[in-house]
Amino acid sequence: MKEILIAPSVLAADFANLQRDVEMINKSEADWFHIDIMDGVFVPNISFGMPVLRDIAKHAKKTIDVHLMIIDPDRYIKEFASLGANILTVHYEACDHLHRTLQAIKAEGMKAGVALNPHTSVDLLEDVINDIDLVCIMSVNPGFGGQSFIENTYSKVKKLKELIKKHGAETLIEIDGGVTNKNAMALANAGADVLVAGSYVFKASNQTETIKGLRELANS
Ligand code: DX5
Ligand code: ZN
Repeated sequence: MKEILIAPSVLAADFANLQRDVEMINKSEADWFHIDIMDGVFVPNISFGMPVLRDIAKHAKKTIDVHLMIIDPDRYIKEFASLGANILTVHYEACDHLHRTLQAIKAEGMKAGVALNPHTSVDLLEDVINDIDLVCIMSVNPGFGGQSFIENTYSKVKKLKELIKKHGAETLIEIDGGVTNKNAMALANAGADVLVAGSYVFKASNQTETIKGLRELANS
């Protein structure tokens, strides 16, 4: 059985104690670092940018999964590779030439991901599914941590799983937004491979135990 991976979202960390929180993820049973980059244009919020990612990457000992919520992401692909991103995810809604963008990400040695807003159908990926390493299904509207999980996500996950199977692709399905102990198991059963969790992890009094618990639940 494949393992479900847990990717804590650094957006919910304490930025005044960032190294401490990065070390917490290093020591925990988390699998990836999920890094949210927002430009204040594609989404109505600005998170952090290159210098912060560079410093996170100095200390991070696990896969760095970068989620770009920015317009025209092609401008920065090379730079994100040099900053240490292992997976680079762009938004379907932000790319005019998605196939070209995916090739450019892979040419820089990174895995290529595509994120879908809640209103964007997974069917739109049919013609590029074999070129995508990871699909990030947004289970909230992107831009902010701490929002409620959108229930329609389950049917999107199932549909996407079918699409991946139909094309014999090896694409991973990542769920991003409102993930907690209440939906982790159902998401895994629907076909999710990676669960991103921000506030659920960082608001907990025992963060490493919370990550462990979420991982166990998703893999039970
Ligand atoms: C939202 C971001 C998410 C966010 C998840 O735009 O893409 O990664 O950090 O946060 P929670 O888990 O709090 O919903
Ligand atoms: Zn994200």
